Amino acid sequence: MAEILVTENITGGAMTRLRETHDVAFEPDLWSNTELVSKLAEARAVIVRNQTQITRELIEQSPRLEVIARAGAGLDNIDTTAAAEAGIVVTYAPAENSLSVAELVMGLLLSLARRIPDAWQDTRNGGWDRKTFTGLELSGRTLGIVGFGRIGRLVAERAIAFGMRLIAHDEFIPPEAFAKAGAQSVSFEKLLAESDAVSVHVPLLDSTQSLFGARQFAAMKPTAWFINAARGEIVDEAALVEALQSGEIAATALDVRDTEPPSRGLLEEMDNVILTPHIGAFTQEAQERVVALVCGDVERVLGGES
Ligand code: MLT
Repeated sequence: MAEILVTENITGGAMTRLRETHDVAFEPDLWSNTELVSKLAEARAVIVRNQTQITRELIEQSPRLEVIARAGAGLDNIDTTAAAEAGIVVTYAPAENSLSVAELVMGLLLSLARRIPDAWQDTRNGGWDRKTFTGLELSGRTLGIVGFGRIGRLVAERAIAFGMRLIAHDEFIPPEAFAKAGAQSVSFEKLLAESDAVSVHVPLLDSTQSLFGARQFAAMKPTAWFINAARGEIVDEAALVEALQSGEIAATALDVRDTEPPSRGLLEEMDNVILTPHIGAFTQEAQERVVALVCGDVERVLGGES
């Protein structure tokens, strides 16, 4: 049984080196498998992405475990309380992929404004339809950012370069941080009412679960776009579908879903929807940074360092 268990497809220079120098079981599809319990029972370290649920139950059945490494920013799939109680170190990469997520959000915004995916699909099918694909400019439009941490601020910087007006809502950020980033701090209600596009950048917590539901979509402009590259569970997907069908909002772009991978449903059929498979953090650069950080931490903990 290996000393380090990797349960998802986590690659990069640092992982290659770790596999050369340590006893690593690389099991990219083990995250939903019952075998996970027995393999983890023997491991001193586990490296996961966001699919593997490291529950209290699993932690309690892993007596040799010293470190849990999350190759990414969100800790919502790790029971950090149970890990702390068991004296297990949890490491993660809170900032290393933020820029990539922010760049994807800009891509989604532009895709909504200019209908780039639809135009490409139509052109690929032999069309040359310039009239249907008359778009809108981002410049002069208002972007509302919910959650003004690292990613929210990186999105703000980029949106300002596009000439957008920035409003943001975050109860945990000091007021001066908004002005510094060129955004106006507003209430959640004002943000929903005034934004031409709303982009979500909060972590998944009990308090943010279904933060966007029927009431929030009804409070948005009928022309508004809704972007989620944070966590799927922050949105009530059924309410989103209804809001799109009834014209309460105009369109959405989602990089994350309430269940991943999702089963095919109404969102996949709708014209005013753009879906990507949780690729926000998936650039070569971000993955190199993330994997270098967590592999380094795993080596340090296993080597007896703090
Ligand atoms: C993150 O939390 O870092 C991103 O959602 C990407 C990931 O989970 O792999």
